[in-house]
Amino acid sequence: MEKTFVDRGRFRIRQPLLVLRYVVATIGLFSVCAITVREIEGDFRYIIQAALWLCLGFFMVEWILEIFKSAKGGWKTLYSRPAIIYAVAVVPVPLAYAIGVSASNAWLLGSFWLFKFLPTTVSTIPQLTRVISKQAKPLASVLLIYVIILFLTCVGIYIFERNIQPAAFENLPATIWWGFSASTSGIGDVAPHTFWGHVLAMIVMISGIGLFGLWMGILANGLMEESRRHEFIQVWDLVVKIPFLKSIGATGIAEIARMLRRLDLPEMTTVIRSGSIGDCMYFVASGEVQIDLHPEPVRLGAGSFFGEMALLGDYVRSATVVTSRPTTLLILDAADFRSFAANHPEFSRSIEDEALQRKQ
Ligand code: CMP
Repeated sequence: MEKTFVDRGRFRIRQPLLVLRYVVATIGLFSVCAITVREIEGDFRYIIQAALWLCLGFFMVEWILEIFKSAKGGWKTLYSRPAIIYAVAVVPVPLAYAIGVSASNAWLLGSFWLFKFLPTTVSTIPQLTRVISKQAKPLASVLLIYVIILFLTCVGIYIFERNIQPAAFENLPATIWWGFSASTSGIGDVAPHTFWGHVLAMIVMISGIGLFGLWMGILANGLMEESRRHEFIQVWDLVVKIPFLKSIGATGIAEIARMLRRLDLPEMTTVIRSGSIGDCMYFVASGEVQIDLHPEPVRLGAGSFFGEMALLGDYVRSATVVTSRPTTLLILDAADFRSFAANHPEFSRSIEDEALQRKQ
């Protein structure tokens, strides 16, 4: 049966399992909260206990299955990231029971079920760690500026407020603690009473907002750069495998690798529909596609390209193209195609020649 873009085969089995895991973890965490609320715990004790044991049982079964899987792949995989996440979710509660911790306290360790929400395969956390370590200098500089402003303004607040509110601004450390909480979470019911106290408190609060704003900006920028770099490396690896692109030279490859987007598709997925409007062309990095032509369909394998005719003509697709195997494509948008072709006449000539041949 023909599939469409969104029908990605590889998600089909993993997705319901993932959803079930999230549902169980959510029920478990709600139950952990519920046992600490006396009114709820009193009325629904048995339901909550049953939910907690069921969640623990579910995670235990998941862990045991993971251990069996690991045994096949070698015991080293027991120390893998998913295996550690499974263990951290299961071990603490029974361990607490075993060493004699009271049931109400032992179940609080069910909070570790939060780790079930961590992705086991996606490399988001190493990526974030890399960004933090790369951006350590700007992050630290912003923190240093914040600390300087906080310290100096708190000295001022202490001078102006200590006689009016001796209990609240008793000494400099207490004033700095107040300044820190006011500039970050805003907790506390203490506020300066003098004019200059108010002015300095304003500076403290703005510096806190500035700290977080700048940190977010630095991290967001770093994450974007990191994912762009990651995608570039992935695309580069695929681009160098396409003989046609090799002919445009190293600088050309570097230029086009920035423009291309990777698309992984399962077999029997329609990539192009005849008669539709086309705004990109494709390079086959691996796998195979079938062009539905009459009387004989044509198959294009790794290294070839398609979808160029629409870009060279009236943007209307001339044939339907379907993947005949799991396929990795590289997409070049029409605008990028135009600017790249303008800078690399040999590239546009080769594509035009091929399109002319295909039309015959
Ligand atoms: P386009 O018309 O944009 O979309 C369908 C694509 O099928 C077309 O571009 C070509 O890339 C490809 N195609 C059409 N005819 C042939 C052919 N005879 N041989 C190989 N590919 C073709």
